[in-house]
Amino acid sequence: MLVLDLGGQYSQLIARRVREARVYSELVPHRLSAAEVRARNPLALILSGGPASVYAEGAPTIDPEIFGLGIPTLGICYGMQLMALDLGGSVDRTGVSEFGRTALEAVPGELFEGLAPKQTVWMSHRDSVVAAPVGARVVAGSPSTPIAAFEDPERRLYGVQFHPEVRHTPHGQEVLENFLYNIAGVPPAWTAAAVIEEQVERIRGQVGTERVICGLSGGVDSAVAALLVYKAVGDQLTCVFVDHGLLRENEATQVVETFGGHFHVPLVHVEAQERFLSRLEGVHDPEEKRKIVGGEFIRVFEEQARKLSHGTPGEIRFLVQGTLYSDVIESGGSDEGVAATIKSHHNVGGLPAEMRMELVEPLRLLFKDEVRRVGEELGLPQRIVWRQPFPGPGLSIRIIGEVTRERLEILRAADAVLQEEVRRAGLYRELWQSFAVLPAIKSVGVQGDERTYAYPIVIRAVTSEDAMTADWARLPYDLLETISSRIINEIPGVNRVALDISSKPPSTIEWE
Ligand code: XMP
Repeated sequence: MLVLDLGGQYSQLIARRVREARVYSELVPHRLSAAEVRARNPLALILSGGPASVYAEGAPTIDPEIFGLGIPTLGICYGMQLMALDLGGSVDRTGVSEFGRTALEAVPGELFEGLAPKQTVWMSHRDSVVAAPVGARVVAGSPSTPIAAFEDPERRLYGVQFHPEVRHTPHGQEVLENFLYNIAGVPPAWTAAAVIEEQVERIRGQVGTERVICGLSGGVDSAVAALLVYKAVGDQLTCVFVDHGLLRENEATQVVETFGGHFHVPLVHVEAQERFLSRLEGVHDPEEKRKIVGGEFIRVFEEQARKLSHGTPGEIRFLVQGTLYSDVIESGGSDEGVAATIKSHHNVGGLPAEMRMELVEPLRLLFKDEVRRVGEELGLPQRIVWRQPFPGPGLSIRIIGEVTRERLEILRAADAVLQEEVRRAGLYRELWQSFAVLPAIKSVGVQGDERTYAYPIVIRAVTSEDAMTADWARLPYDLLETISSRIINEIPGVNRVALDISSKPPSTIEWE
């Protein structure tokens, strides 16, 4: 099913909700012509909301011939207004705008089947439809918007003024499901198992009998991408896991045991700790640290690739990357990943710019939560499936100032305590990220009868949807107390624990 994106803030959310209903959906530009839409053969269409008034100059439009394709189509908010305008109805600035929770009254019909006649919905609009398209029946209204939904079963065209995709519309998902299952007749068949089957086939088609290389970072994306490729082409895949010495406690062991041990994926475990740490000696500047770790990572990865191809350039032609659908949407591209020069900022801490390899991107059409479900289906351990995001430069950007072995040890131990307690409290999955930071200052304390002069540890825990914005997590006081007293008592060199209560923006999630 296709969501035609008319620029609304919830367009991506619509695609996600449809996928939650187990129907595969893609977000596409509103400029697609009717012929282009037909060529993609969708079972249903949704026109998203949009920020503009349909009468504003340059307001986004769609090819009106799309309405004649006979494909079941649902217009939401701006999409509904556009539909009304193109199909002989009318839209007016009524002078009454509606924002927020609104009481809706519906009459029996297809969209509201199985729902109570009165319900709360989320509205966000200025203009309103004042005449439904010719032949359409009005099936819901609110006090200030008499035409809040219409249906034209004959032409298979439907519109709602409210936003069924947001959680503030409690029965919104049911309205979407009525449209998908009952009106459009699309079955809820898109499951993790179906994704795996489809991707395995695609990967086989793409790489044939060639060799493939994949950088594992320890995170869920590269892990799931690697397992999909392994399932598709087995030993043609080699994974390279670079331990740069800046990982969390036990992380390297878990990756090696999971991939090399449990799954028997051919795995090269590069122990490059010394190399990274000596390059970081004496370096204080955050950007310089990032560049050093990123640059060194590339060199190590290239050396391994060269070794694996026995010095014959081009012997390994394919590189796996865990690019997600959100990255694809954000970069505005929707082309299939073919022979691209690899960008330097990518997932695995930046990958070789000179290595001209063809990308294998089995997660390119998935959102993060879908990747996790595929990971579960593939049997990846829960600990990796649900791992919180971890930055490529690792602990080096959570140690303010110089990264020394002593400071790395302190931070790693503090982080392990924090992780353990957050998990014990059952909050690990709820938090986008939770970790410890080691500032470059010392303060005075008293332990036993002795004066101490030691480092503080800062607790950073945030909730977020996508890391673009984040809020500091309201961790329970009891949990904070346990973390604080355990860190101070168990870790020599720490005599104080502080809590970071800043949101993003204006702060960032990481400290460097
Ligand atoms: P900030 O600190 O900018 O972080 O709010 C946003 C998200 O990105 C992660 N992050 C990184 N991930 N390489 C990565 O792979 C990096 O260099 C990097 N820097 C930040 C960060 O952990 C958070 O999830």
